[in-house]
Amino acid sequence: MKSTAQIRHDYLHFFEEKGHKIVESSSLVPHNDPTLLFTNAGMNQFKDVFLGMDKRPYSRATTSQRCVRAGGKHNDLENVGYTARHHTFFEMLGNFSFGDYFKHDAINFAWEFLTSPKWLGLPKEKLWVTVYEQDDEAYGIWKNEVGIPAERIIRIGDNKGAPYASDNFWQMGDTGPCGPCTEIFYDHGEHIWGGVPGSPEEDGDRYIEIWNIVFMQFNRLADGTMEKLPKPSVDTGMGLERIAAVMQHVDSNYDIDIFKTLIAAVAELTGTKDLENKSLRVIADHIRSCAYLIADGVVPSNEGRGYVLRRIIRRAVRHGHLLGAQSPFFHKLVPTLIQVMDQAGDIIEANKENIVTLLKREEEQFSHTLDRGLTLLDEALAQVENNTLSGDVAFKLYDTYGFPLDLTADVCRERGIEIDEEGFDKAMNEQRQRAQSASNFGMDYNSVIRMDAQTHFHGYTQDKAEGKILALFVDGKEVEAVNAGEKAVIVLDNTPFYAESGGQVGDSGELFVGDAVFNVEDTQKYGQVFGHIGTVAQGTLKVGDQVVAIVDAERRQRTAINHSATHLLHAALRQVLGTHVTQKGSLVSANGLRFDFVQPEAISADKLVEIENLVNAQIRKNNTIITEEMDIEAAKGKGAMALFGEKYADNVRVLTMGDFSIELCGGVHAKHTGDIGLFKIVSESAIAAGVRRIEAVTGQGAMDWLHQQQAVIAQSADLLKADATSLVEKIQGLQDKAKKAEKELQMLQQKLALQAGADLAKQAEQMQGHAVILKQLDGIDTKALRTMVDDLKNQLGSGIVVLASANEDKVNLVVGVTKDLTAKVKAGELVNLMAQAVGGKGGGRPDMAMAGGNEPQHIAKALEVAKEWLANHL
Ligand code: ALA
Repeated sequence: MKSTAQIRHDYLHFFEEKGHKIVESSSLVPHNDPTLLFTNAGMNQFKDVFLGMDKRPYSRATTSQRCVRAGGKHNDLENVGYTARHHTFFEMLGNFSFGDYFKHDAINFAWEFLTSPKWLGLPKEKLWVTVYEQDDEAYGIWKNEVGIPAERIIRIGDNKGAPYASDNFWQMGDTGPCGPCTEIFYDHGEHIWGGVPGSPEEDGDRYIEIWNIVFMQFNRLADGTMEKLPKPSVDTGMGLERIAAVMQHVDSNYDIDIFKTLIAAVAELTGTKDLENKSLRVIADHIRSCAYLIADGVVPSNEGRGYVLRRIIRRAVRHGHLLGAQSPFFHKLVPTLIQVMDQAGDIIEANKENIVTLLKREEEQFSHTLDRGLTLLDEALAQVENNTLSGDVAFKLYDTYGFPLDLTADVCRERGIEIDEEGFDKAMNEQRQRAQSASNFGMDYNSVIRMDAQTHFHGYTQDKAEGKILALFVDGKEVEAVNAGEKAVIVLDNTPFYAESGGQVGDSGELFVGDAVFNVEDTQKYGQVFGHIGTVAQGTLKVGDQVVAIVDAERRQRTAINHSATHLLHAALRQVLGTHVTQKGSLVSANGLRFDFVQPEAISADKLVEIENLVNAQIRKNNTIITEEMDIEAAKGKGAMALFGEKYADNVRVLTMGDFSIELCGGVHAKHTGDIGLFKIVSESAIAAGVRRIEAVTGQGAMDWLHQQQAVIAQSADLLKADATSLVEKIQGLQDKAKKAEKELQMLQQKLALQAGADLAKQAEQMQGHAVILKQLDGIDTKALRTMVDDLKNQLGSGIVVLASANEDKVNLVVGVTKDLTAKVKAGELVNLMAQAVGGKGGGRPDMAMAGGNEPQHIAKALEVAKEWLANHL
C-alpha cells in the first residue's frame, strides 16, 4: 500500500520524467496578489506566467502545493468534519504547461500516471470522466485515444446559471486566468451512497473527483470580458488526500495514513475512546491549516487573513472542549504533524517554536471565555423561538466572548437551529468601526498596465543610463506623446531606476530627451516592465524617443544604506531574540527603515540597546557588501535567509555582509557596511498579535534624529533653568511640588464647596412637602461634590439633593436621598436617568449615587429631567 508521502514523491517524479521542473510549493499567503485571500490552487504561483506577464526558464512545471480553502472564494470551513473529503488545508498535486503541451498530452499524462502499473495502477473501469459540454476535442481524446467507453464520459454544460459558469469551467477568482476543464472521478463502489457527476445524487461520496485538468485559455476581466491568453496552457490539480484514500482503499480522506495518526494523537490528548467522533476529524484537519498558516506568516488577529486563522483555531478549541479536553491541547499536535507530513513538514519544523507559542496563547486566551460563552449560548438555545437564534445573542457571543459566527453556527447546527444572520450583521454594522482589511481583497488585477515587453534594469551599478520610450500612459490610457504639465507613466526598455519591490521604495529622478524634461516621482513594476511615474516639466516626450535617465543619487544612496541596515537589523534580531524572528514586512526609503517581524513579546530596552550595538559594530567593521548571483539551491545551501514560500526566480541575488548577514535580495545596497555610518532605533511597537515593528534611521538621518533629541533636551533644560545632567532631578522636584499643590487645591476646593453647601441648604425648594435641592455648581470634582451632598443631607434632615457639575468637558452628577425617602426615590435610579441626558451612565446606593457624562451643555436638561421625575415620584 502506498503511503501519502510516496504518492507525493511518485507524482513529482513521474512529471519530472516527462520533462517538468519540480517547483517548490509557494506560500499560503499569495505573493503580490491582492485578489486572493489564501493560495487555493497549484496554479496561483504561476498566474502571471499564464497571463504572459512573467516568464520562467521552463515551460513545464510540477508541484505539490499547500492550499487553504477557508474564508475566500473557495470556502470549505463549514463542511469540515461532516463530509468524507472536505478540508481547510490540503495539498494539491499539479502539472503545468505554459504554452507547451495542451489537451492531448495533458489527458494522456494523467491517464498514464493513474493507470500504469509502474505508477498508481488503478483499475480503468473505476474511472469516469467529465468534459465541458462544447469541448469535442477533449471528448474525442478520451473516447478515441484513451479508449474510455462513451457511457463513462459525461458532458457538463453551464450548470451554474451563467455562460462559462460550470463545474467544468474553472476559474481562480472573479478575475484572472480560467478555462474549460475535464475531470476524472473515481468510483468508490456501490456500498457508498452517491451518483455520477451531473446526476441528482452527485453530492454523495461514491463518485469522487480526483483530478481536474484545466485548459487555460482565457483571462476573465472584471467586466466579464473573456480575453484570450497569449498561449493556451494547462493547469491541473489532484487532491493528494483524495488520491491517497483511493490508493489506501479507504472511503474517507480521514482514514488515510496522515489522518489516522493525527486522529489517534487527538484522541490520546483528549482522552477520547470513540475514534469515529466527528470532533476528532475537525481537530485533525484544523491543526494542519493553522500550523501551515502560521508557518507562512499569518498571525491570529481580528481582521483579514488573521481572523480566518483565529476562527479555525477557535473552532478546533471548541471541538476539543466537546471531547472533554481540560487544558490546552491543540498546540501539542505539532510534533505529530511534522512527522506525518514527511517532506512537506519541513516548513513546520523550521517554524515549530513560533507555531506552538502562538497556538498555545490563542488557545489559552479563548479558554477564558469559552465556558461562559457556551453557558450563555445554552441558555439562549433553551429559549429559542422559531428555531432561530437571535442575531443579538450571536453578536454578543462574538463581541464579548470571542465566538466567531461560524463557531456559534456550528453549535446551532448540532441542534438543528439556525442563526438570524441578518440580525447579526445589523448588530455588527452598528458597532463596527474597525477597518475591514479583508474587504481590500477585490482589486481588479487587470487594471494595471500590461505589456508584452521587458524593462532591463541597470541600477545596481549605474545611476544614469539611456533607454527608449516603449509606451506612455496618461490616466491609465495609452498615448503617443505627453506635453509639459501632464502627469504620466513612462515605460522604458532600459533604466537605472529601481522599481518598488521587496520593501524598497521606487527611485525618483529625471528623464531627458533633448530639451524635454520629465520629473520622475516614483517607479513601479507592472509585470515585466517598469513605469516611471511623474510630470513633464518641459517639452514633449514621444513613444520611441531615446531618453537619458538620471536617478536622484542622493535619495538613492540614503535608501540604499537603509536597505543594508535592514539586513543587519534582521540578523541582529535573530541573534539577540532567536530564530523565530522572521520578516513580516519592511519599508525602506530615504527617510528611514521599518521592519515588521514575528516576535511574541515586546522587546526590553536592554535588548534594544544590544541590537543597536550589534548593528553598529558591524557598521564599524566596514565589510564589503558582496553581491553574487547563483541558483536558488546554491543560495539556500550557503545558508542565505529566504522567506519561506516566497517566490524567487531560479537565479537569485545573494547579499553577504561579513560573516554576519547573508540574505536573498533584489534591492539596491551600499558598497560597504561603513557607508551606513550610524544606526539608531527610534521606535519599537506592536502592530498585531505576535508581530512587532522596529523603525530606525541611519547615516545623516540618524544624525538629524540625534540633533533633534538633543535640541529637545536643551530646550527643556533651558525652560527649567537646569543643564542636561540635572534635568531629571529638577523634573522630580517639580513633580513633587505639583503634587503637593494639587492636594492643597483639593482641600481648598472642598472647603469652598462646604461653604457653598451651607448656603444651598437655605435655597431648598419644597416639592410635595419635601425639601429638594437641584443645583449646578461648576468646577467641582466628584469627591468634593459628594462631601457637599452628604453635608446637605445632614443639614436638611429629610430631603433630596441633586448636584451637577461641569468640569472641563466632563460632567459629574451626584444624588443624595435621606434614608426616610429611599422607599420613594432611589438615588441610583434618578442619577441614571439624568446621566442619559448628558451622555453617560452611573449608579450607586439608594441613598447616594453618582454618574459621569461628557455633554456639559445638557446639564440644565438633566436637572429638568430630575425635577419632573421627582414631581411624579414624591
Ligand atoms: N486549478 C484547478 C483546480 O484547482 C486545477 O481544480
